[in-house]
Amino acid sequence: MNKLAMIVAAAENDVIGINGDLPWQLSADLRRFKRLTMGHHIIMGRKTFDSIGRLLPGRTTVIVTRQSDFECDGALIANSIEEAIALCGEDDLPFVTGGAEIYRLAIPFISEIHLTRVHTEIDGDTDLPEIAWDDWTLVEEIGFQKDEKNNFDFSFQTFTRS
Ligand SMILES: NC(=O)c1ccc[n+]([C@@H]2O[C@H](COP(=O)([O-])OP(=O)(O)OC[C@H]3O[C@@H](n4cnc5c(N)ncnc54)[C@H](OP(=O)(O)O)[C@@H]3O)[C@@H](O)[C@H]2O)c1
Repeated sequence: MNKLAMIVAAAENDVIGINGDLPWQLSADLRRFKRLTMGHHIIMGRKTFDSIGRLLPGRTTVIVTRQSDFECDGALIANSIEEAIALCGEDDLPFVTGGAEIYRLAIPFISEIHLTRVHTEIDGDTDLPEIAWDDWTLVEEIGFQKDEKNNFDFSFQTFTRS
């Protein structure tokens, strides 16, 4: 099986979203997302697709939905996570880009996690699903301080399966 990555930003209390959006402004995280995912397939839930509101250039979007008649010009549509992964074909590193429902379905298939840990506890309505962190090894970590374009301190962390 090809590798499959997950990319997510989560607060210290594991919140990842609020009101269909992100609970922070972190332009460095958006840049990291773009750099890592460029040229690859990105697998996302229909709600996350709605919240982004457009296809991201340079990537092939795979939208996961239970709707059998869902259509989106320029995107691939899957009715299960297995179908979404299959649609990535020969891509050597597709990315699962959320949200919570899709991360939960994908975790058993994920080989590496690119986590932006946002160093705050924050209110939200969507949480990172349970991850058995003992099964994962932190292989890279870079910390950053908040500034005018990033409203919290944060760390880029990369994990691979132990
Ligand atoms: N911090 C981050 O890194 C990050 C990343 C991504 C998203 N988010 C946030 O997360 C929130 C959205 O996440 P979410 O968990 O509510 O929604 P989601 O995972 O983006 O999408 C949920 C949708 O996926 C489809 N789905 C779920 N299970 C399925 C299954 N078993 N088979 C087929 N389709 C299935 C359904 O679509 P249908 O209803 O069309 O059937 C469901 O409504 C937003 O606040 C967003 O901003 C945060």
